[in-house]
Amino acid sequence: MTEPGFSGRLIVVSNRLPVSLKKEPDGKWTSKMSSGGLVAALSGLKSNFIWVGWIGAEIEEDDREEVTRILRDNHNCIPVFLSEKVANDHYNGFSNGVLWPLFHYLPGDVDYDDDIWNSYVEANTIFSQVVADILEPDDLVWVHDYHMMLMPEILKQKCPDARIGFFLHIPFPSSEIFRVLPCRKEILMGMLNCCLIGFHTYDYARHFLKACTRIIGAETVPNGVYFKDKFVQVGVFPVGIDPDKFFETLQTPKVQSRIKELSKSFEGMKVVIGIDRLDYIKGLPQKLQAIEKLFQNYPEWKGKFVLIQVAVPSRQDVDEYQKLKKEVEELVGRINGLYGSLGYSPIHYLFQSVDSDELTALYNISDAALISSIRDGMNLVAQEYIVSQTDKKGVLILSEFTGASQSLSGAVMINPWNTEEVAESINTALTMSKEEREEKHQMLLNYVTKHTASHWGLGFVRELYKASHQAEKIFSI
Ligand code: G6P
Repeated sequence: MTEPGFSGRLIVVSNRLPVSLKKEPDGKWTSKMSSGGLVAALSGLKSNFIWVGWIGAEIEEDDREEVTRILRDNHNCIPVFLSEKVANDHYNGFSNGVLWPLFHYLPGDVDYDDDIWNSYVEANTIFSQVVADILEPDDLVWVHDYHMMLMPEILKQKCPDARIGFFLHIPFPSSEIFRVLPCRKEILMGMLNCCLIGFHTYDYARHFLKACTRIIGAETVPNGVYFKDKFVQVGVFPVGIDPDKFFETLQTPKVQSRIKELSKSFEGMKVVIGIDRLDYIKGLPQKLQAIEKLFQNYPEWKGKFVLIQVAVPSRQDVDEYQKLKKEVEELVGRINGLYGSLGYSPIHYLFQSVDSDELTALYNISDAALISSIRDGMNLVAQEYIVSQTDKKGVLILSEFTGASQSLSGAVMINPWNTEEVAESINTALTMSKEEREEKHQMLLNYVTKHTASHWGLGFVRELYKASHQAEKIFSI
């Protein structure tokens, strides 16, 4: 694909910067760039980009200058500093206590109050000011995700010529759910100050267009919204991963020897892998109930089946996440107690992050991956599992409520709420013929290796450039 060659810079804005910082005992700062999905997506862009975001912790007033210098010089990043209260109310309060549950169809879990909304507005204003301070005429601004939905409008008030794109990484819910939100108009108007708004799937884009019609009476067409005598383009850009990173990791002697070790310890067993942030959208209780049902309906699996479930700690300051942790631990304990024996535990549960070597090895030795999200914007674990398969050609069991299910037709689809069906699908996956597994895997692999993270990043930036009306001058197609 042709590279966007615009002369300006791409300013990427996300809630959190992709860098971790640590103050060493000698007072010096060490920093490390993380390898998340957005980093992979942007690595495909040869253009100049600057990343604006929150550092994820409060930095003392005295340290801010030095931290800013390190981030700017070493990582092209510009930190946004927020007070503890604003950061907490913005991140834990409004973003993860209101928008996150609502956009994942859980209005009962929403905990709204005006105070956290005000902090959300304030954080978006502070972010906008940081961008306004560095913005140059040829720049493009790409704003990411639900933490930043007001930013396009606030930035546009400060810099009327700013050319802004917005991408939502989570589902946009049906307008019936979205209209529950007290500040629904403000959120829509915030987003509509863009040239381009992107979603992972057609359904999310359709829901957004419908919300614009119903809530603010805007005229819409399938690819956009007419707003304040401008056309705001709406597009579908399913995100991907960086498959080469997994292919390379798989080849390393360290991972090869770990694969041997793990294969030996699970010899004679069928292994199912689950890798999820410990989040209520991931459907972990539903997954565990399905495992229990598997043992009830197919007792022959006792002693021959193991689920390795990695639950990556996440948002532990939010009450709902603490409750979930307890519920999951109780279920794991109950199932292991009922179906295990002295030398055998059907569920290996890890409440921790695993590094990329261990992750790749775990994916590789597993006969199936089980993704049971009750809602999920995309779900990249599905794609990571596919590219980490070598000889086994393991089966992907995938919830139909993930964005990924729209493009991964080679998966065994499940409704995570239908426990009987999930148990049956696990049994089907683990008894599937080699030919069928190979055929499904090839179909999935073709998709994932083509629709990569950098394909996504490049595609969005090109479309943003076009939408900002200068594409023809800049792209050599
Ligand atoms: C989702 C969101 C991201 C977020 C990630 C991890 O994928 O779309 O914006 O970064 O979850 O959540 P955290 O709260 O740890 O950043």
